[in-house]
Amino acid sequence: MSFTIAIDGPAASGKGTIARAVAREFGFVHLDTGLLYRAVGAIGGDPILAALRLRPEDLSRDGLRTAEAGQAASRVAAIPEVRSALVDFQRRFALSEPGAVLDGRDIGTVICPEAQLKLYVTASDEIRARRRALELGADEAHILAELRERDARDAARDVAPMRPAEDAMLLDTSQLSIDEAVARVIEAVRLRS
Ligand code: C5P
Repeated sequence: MSFTIAIDGPAASGKGTIARAVAREFGFVHLDTGLLYRAVGAIGGDPILAALRLRPEDLSRDGLRTAEAGQAASRVAAIPEVRSALVDFQRRFALSEPGAVLDGRDIGTVICPEAQLKLYVTASDEIRARRRALELGADEAHILAELRERDARDAARDVAPMRPAEDAMLLDTSQLSIDEAVARVIEAVRLRS
């Protein structure tokens, strides 16, 4: 049976970095589900059609990592038909052998409620903005405002709002190095496998 790790949390909380490192440690595949919504937002036109027709190569389009692409993603991600068009692909991916790590907003609550390990990764708004500003080479105050706007929309939407699953392990990375955060998750996986 495959082992699924669901990692959710707000933008720039460190979940993607943790997901990649944990997948590498265990030889699991990794899916950054935010990229699906970023690609749908970037394709333009009717977002529901874009989601239904999404192809793997769409996930490597240029410019998907920008703040603007994040905002566009967050807007299309509030459309129920866009979300439902992407469910099967994510669930199939989650069953990859020997295991899969998926990171996003609704993995533990909607996509993989049966995941063997669920994590909800957070960090203070200021720290998240600093990290993302360094990564993108962008202005910190601008990024802070952008993150807050996106988090508020993601948490308030009717369908699959961003929130921790009831049985999720909470990990605040504000005071942790990447290595410390990753070590905690690796330990949690070992305890469950
Ligand atoms: O994780 P990332 O910042 O790339 O996600 C971009 C946007 O995609 C989020 O702000 C959110 O609106 C949406 N998203 C989502 N559900 C997921 C992953 C991302 O709604 N599982």
